Amino acid sequence: MKKESNPLPFDSFMNPGVGRYAKTYKESLETPDKFFEEAGFLLDWYSKWDKVLDKSKEPYYRWYVNGKLNLSYNALDRHSSGSRRNKAAFIWVNEKGDEKIVTYNGLYNRVNSFSRALLDMGIRKGDRIAIYLPMIIEEPVAMLAAARIGAVFTVIFSGFGAEAIAERVNDCGAKMIITADGGYRRGKFIPLKETVDRAIELTTTVETVIVVKHTNHETNMVEGRDYWYHDLLEVKNYVEPERMDSNDPLFILYTSGTTGKPKGVVHGTGGYGVWVTNTLKWAFDPKENDRWWCAADIGWITGHSYIVFAPLILGLTSILYEGSFDYPSPDQMWKIISYYEVDILYTSPTAIRALMKYGDEYPRSHDLSSLRVLGTVGEPINPAAWQWYYERIGSSQCPIVDTYWQTETGGFVVSPALGIGYGPLKPGSATLPLPGIDPVIMNSDGKEAKAGEKGLLYLKRPWPGLMLELNNADEKYRTMYFGNAKKYYFTGDYAIKDKDGFYWLLGRADEVLKISGHRIGTIEVEDALLSTGVIAEAGVFGKPHQIKGESIVSFVVLKSGVNLDSSVEAIKNKVRDNFGPLLIPDEIHIVGSLPKTRSGKIMRRIMKAVYQNQVPGDISTLESGASLEEIKESIEKFRKELKTVDLAHS
Ligand code: PRX
Repeated sequence: MKKESNPLPFDSFMNPGVGRYAKTYKESLETPDKFFEEAGFLLDWYSKWDKVLDKSKEPYYRWYVNGKLNLSYNALDRHSSGSRRNKAAFIWVNEKGDEKIVTYNGLYNRVNSFSRALLDMGIRKGDRIAIYLPMIIEEPVAMLAAARIGAVFTVIFSGFGAEAIAERVNDCGAKMIITADGGYRRGKFIPLKETVDRAIELTTTVETVIVVKHTNHETNMVEGRDYWYHDLLEVKNYVEPERMDSNDPLFILYTSGTTGKPKGVVHGTGGYGVWVTNTLKWAFDPKENDRWWCAADIGWITGHSYIVFAPLILGLTSILYEGSFDYPSPDQMWKIISYYEVDILYTSPTAIRALMKYGDEYPRSHDLSSLRVLGTVGEPINPAAWQWYYERIGSSQCPIVDTYWQTETGGFVVSPALGIGYGPLKPGSATLPLPGIDPVIMNSDGKEAKAGEKGLLYLKRPWPGLMLELNNADEKYRTMYFGNAKKYYFTGDYAIKDKDGFYWLLGRADEVLKISGHRIGTIEVEDALLSTGVIAEAGVFGKPHQIKGESIVSFVVLKSGVNLDSSVEAIKNKVRDNFGPLLIPDEIHIVGSLPKTRSGKIMRRIMKAVYQNQVPGDISTLESGASLEEIKESIEKFRKELKTVDLAHS
């Protein structure tokens, strides 16, 4: 990626904001209590906090201590009686063009009815429930209903398979799963309920399953366990929102880490609510009558924060889209923008690159003039894609808001901030830190990196959106994120700060891959491969991919006696069944052995280097006391293996 680029022609976004941003940012660091006290007032509270930030139990930072609030109240009740009562909260659309408009008052009624249903089913404050739904209105309804009664929800991305669901349900002890009779993707029926049935066989805590009738496909209902969603709803119900403590958990969202199974990131109520709402305003400066389209999936943090909580709390109208951006035709995304006159589009670099490949005639044949601001998230955006987005989609009129953040950060942390006005923009840079965010880049000597020097990105002080903790993984929380000498929050990303103070995010420094913006651990893919039952050993790494950012390369050793001919397809199918399509490697190479240290650790870095025909680099650090000769031998063996594998056809 080119690091320096012409700051022009983005000057138009530059002034007069610089001064205002600088002033706001400075205030946020110099007088944080005052700054975040004001930020807190963007929400309605039943009772105010005693203290803005309690650092006494670091690294468990607690915001708005003893404040009481409910985010369902903030998202719904306070709009449903005012001028937003009949305003659209969601415009739901699918690939076929079916449309459903749900007003704030309509959403309020749905959420109240479903809250009552949850209570009737015995769900109480603090209980955990899982949500495994396609992108339909019932998904935010379920999340908000849980939030209303204080149940902690975990949304499981609807592309995951049975084992992935079971892993998450077991980790958080979910008592209920809310799902649908199916979903659609690229015109294809996805049997969600069947997957849930298989998952439940691997769990012990699930007592009830609530099934939304979405596709009308027949599904097997288990007597006494499975209930139709529509049978549980009574029109017009009111459920008094629970007065949640600011630091009560709101949801758990599983994400990939460096080691082992996905970890459950626990977000709280007050700090999280304040952060997502303020950051949306700061970064995108949305207006009351905007149509906001966060084209992400609710199964990821982007959807939690910027499809559900922040836009609803701000009273915006969102597009909720169930489908692919290039199906049934490559102009699907542009059609939706033009049809609904979308003002702000927020999507991923992968989507932009994929749509760019179809050529300019698709966006050109639609009126995209409603667009005012464009955003991106999830992975670094290469300057060419940035430029195309800016020129061809935004007609060189719309600023690009490249938001850098993570599941753990709750909301944006580095991003242009149109709401507090600054620029210029540089294609490929997420620009400057948002208020309260105090980044530092450390080089390999453990010193603060100089301008232009690559290093690891840390955030020096806590901010309200920072997760509360990891579910069942206290040790990991402390060591992975705060285990460094200074006890700064470690992002896991490489970054550079240029001479103007702009941040360039360069990708993960750990064993985490970013495949089409999805966060996937190499170990997760290896586990998924091993789950097929035919593989003895697996080693996985990522390689650059023009559209997806990265693709997954895997080398596997089959168990003895496994039939070689049918194995690659069979492995892919089994991974799909168990974990879902996300974890299927793009390349599966069958080899006789993998390079390993004496203690049996698979040397992914070395495999990657050998695969890319590069020198493996320093191997002396691989295993203390291990014989380098043995390791070298193992690498040579792998190199020879590679020669026998047809890399092009796997
Ligand atoms: O590597 C960074 C990348 O995505 C990671 C976080 O992934 P996840 O928790 O799934 O959250 C994605 C949605 C916020 C980060 O560690 N990342 C995210 N946004 C950007 C990015 N990399 C570069 N530029 C971004 N704007």
